[in-house]
Amino acid sequence: MKMRNHFITSVDIGSSKTCALIAELNSETGIPVIKGYGTVGTKGLKKGAVVNIEELSHTISQAVNAAETMAGTTVSNCFASISGDQIRSMNTQGLIAISRDARSGIGEAREIEKEDIDRVIEHTRAVPLPVDRQILHVMPQEFIVDEQCGIKNPINLLGRRLEVKVHITTYSTTVASNLTRCFKNAELSVINFILHSLASSESVLTPDEKESGSILIDIGNGTLDVIVYSEGGIHHTGVVNFGDHLVTSDIAYLLRIPQEYAEKIKKNHGYSFTQNVDKEAIIKIDSIGNRPAREIPLLKLAEYIEPRMEEILREAFMESKKSDIPLTSIQSVILTGGGALIKGCEELAESIFKIPARIGFPTGYTGFEDELNNPKYAAAIGMLRFALKDKSTNHIHSSASDTWLTKAWKWLKNITENIL
Ligand SMILES: Nc1ncnc2c1ncn2[C@@H]1O[C@H](COP(=O)(O)OP(=O)(O)OP(=O)(O)O)[C@@H](O)[C@H]1O
Ligand SMILES: [Mg+2]
Repeated sequence: MKMRNHFITSVDIGSSKTCALIAELNSETGIPVIKGYGTVGTKGLKKGAVVNIEELSHTISQAVNAAETMAGTTVSNCFASISGDQIRSMNTQGLIAISRDARSGIGEAREIEKEDIDRVIEHTRAVPLPVDRQILHVMPQEFIVDEQCGIKNPINLLGRRLEVKVHITTYSTTVASNLTRCFKNAELSVINFILHSLASSESVLTPDEKESGSILIDIGNGTLDVIVYSEGGIHHTGVVNFGDHLVTSDIAYLLRIPQEYAEKIKKNHGYSFTQNVDKEAIIKIDSIGNRPAREIPLLKLAEYIEPRMEEILREAFMESKKSDIPLTSIQSVILTGGGALIKGCEELAESIFKIPARIGFPTGYTGFEDELNNPKYAAAIGMLRFALKDKSTNHIHSSASDTWLTKAWKWLKNITENIL
């Protein structure tokens, strides 16, 4: 996304489409107002990584130019989504003393300040990482003040020790550098990369769903992005390079039709849960060349689709089981991404996860609601929301936005506390 003047730009590079959005912030409601969007077919990206610099640079340019024309402005920087199975995640924790006494080590309790929260979160970043990895997000799950757990915001609480449990995601610097180069070629600088699933969850999940425990699955064309929430915190993020294009390939292969036509058949007639299919219904399939059209039962098409969709959802199930919380504490599954639009997807997910499922459409924005009301735009819209929230709460960019004076003050304070 770009933040020039008062505009924010997000660019979601998906396996099948790249979407750029330019938005303004409505200061009264605090939500993004989309002023322009551009969507083009992606070229030069495979499984979340760049395979052709020139093609992907051109793709980004095209999407952003279209959004700029519509918004009547130009942008120079943006937030960008990142995905692919190069993404890794872990849960860890950090601990700091709030006050120190020269003799006992721990002094009188004092009020916890914003700087203490930043400092304890900063501590969690000290995890050993291979040279080609960098931290993408550090997301607090809960704070513990002295021995009191489950605190969401410890500010102004009295305490001697502050602990934080966090979920950390990391990315490959090679993948990010190549993506950054493509953006640079398209005359854009990347303010920050945002994890695809985190972005989607920002526009799709309700606060209640995050609190009561939910799994968000973004079924894209080439990747499955999974994120697990419980008690408002993130407990697992994972990406599987396994996407919905396989459903199209199966239909094309089994019906002996071209991919583009199989894609059309899937969208118009595809069912992923055979149990609910009209057993009498027949569909017409045009044949290649001058052979006559065929008629096949709708049930037969569903029988081609269901096993692959089941495999996709089982992969997501296995991925969510890697979470550090039991899946029995999860209340709902939310399916988003274009792949979630296949009919019967909720029912199939419910039969696998054994909990209620729904399709997640993006919310929390205004402008072009009719055009963008589609799960495939969840990540692009979610990035706008994440960036605005992040800007106001200063979570990710806290160090970047610090002046040299505040940095020096923090450093001096840390040194003093550690010496005393
Ligand atoms: N109405 C529909 N019914 C079934 N499938 C659909 C429908 N609309 C879109 N899709 C599928 O959704 C997929 C595209 O989804 P999306 O745009 O979320 O993926 P992407 O962001 O390009 O890929 P990824 O996130 O995996 O990198 C395509 O495979 C497409 O066939
Ligand atoms: Mg996507």
